[in-house]
Amino acid sequence: EKGGFKTFMDKEIHDQPQAVADTLLGRTDAAGRLQLDELRIDESVLRTIDKIVVIACGTAAYAGHVAKYAIEHWCRIPVEVELAHEFRYRDPVVTEKTLVVAITQSGETMDTLMAVRHAREQGAKVLSIVNTHGSTIPRESDAVLYTHAGPEIAVASTKAFLAQITATYLLGLYLAQVRGNKFPDEIAEVLTDLRAMPAKIQTVIDRGDRVRMIARWMDSKSVLFLGRHVGFPVALEGALKLKELAYIHAEGFAAGELKHGPIALVEAGQPVFVIVPSPRGRHSLHSKVISNIQEIRARGARTLVIAEDGDDAVTPYADEVFRVPEAPTLLSPLLSVVPLQIFACELATARGLDVDQPRNLAKSVTVE
Ligand code: F6R
Repeated sequence: EKGGFKTFMDKEIHDQPQAVADTLLGRTDAAGRLQLDELRIDESVLRTIDKIVVIACGTAAYAGHVAKYAIEHWCRIPVEVELAHEFRYRDPVVTEKTLVVAITQSGETMDTLMAVRHAREQGAKVLSIVNTHGSTIPRESDAVLYTHAGPEIAVASTKAFLAQITATYLLGLYLAQVRGNKFPDEIAEVLTDLRAMPAKIQTVIDRGDRVRMIARWMDSKSVLFLGRHVGFPVALEGALKLKELAYIHAEGFAAGELKHGPIALVEAGQPVFVIVPSPRGRHSLHSKVISNIQEIRARGARTLVIAEDGDDAVTPYADEVFRVPEAPTLLSPLLSVVPLQIFACELATARGLDVDQPRNLAKSVTVE
């Protein structure tokens, strides 16, 4: 049932193109308009929403961070992202005009379930993005958008993460359609870009040997991850995967934060992954991140850079470059996170660890 792979984790990394493709499948009508049939919230209600609050834990919360960039850009609705266990014990401002989006693979995470109940008590509409049919959270939500990643067996999340991000893109585009924030052809264009992503994810997986090679020889006690914009949650996820699977100290930072403290950590030989934004992006972030790479390299860091095909500006400052195909910035996390998953999986395997069942962790956390 591992389909020829040694571990579920490895299999599930390889399942990712399919997980994204399946999550995108059957979401449009004959005219090409998005249609989220399972959603069950009236379009008129969606038009009155004045704020979105994403609640989730762990990797699912990082999917929420990516969603914030996309949904705010496409829909001009403010989006907050909060860890479910923090949301509940604050005194969060939610009203009937708040759409709470709960993201969860298992649909059983107690922290997330409690936050869902709390939000509904305050009168908010709750939409859950869930992978597991028949689980508790979708039953207690006003609406559901299912991810179609298939069963995820390995404790650490991989394909569910990509499917969650994909589902939030669909939600963002659907809201833009319903609320008239975007012209139909603009939405169709993003959908076309999205449908091209599974093949690009496959390309990144096919290039996995290079990152595996580096992972096998890594003997560092700590690894840092830097990213900006949507690359920031990718950095956080890269660090989480390494902690969970390889029990190595790892931290993700927003690259712009470097000079506000974390750069003090950089000493000779310190491995630092850097997720470089596309040079074709609308912002000037590409050159800023290149400067960050120069700064840390000048202090002796070993720079492991994830960059787009054809981005030659990174090569002089990178000790290693892992290439990903070109993609629109907002969709790029579906590609840039994959080398980080492969890295953590391979490093843990090389150290003889059980990547499917890391110590101290459970697949679904049904206690608070
Ligand atoms: C990380 C991981 C966890 C889960 C988190 C939420 O690899 O698996 O951080 O993402 O426990 O779980 P779900 O999505 O089931 O609510």
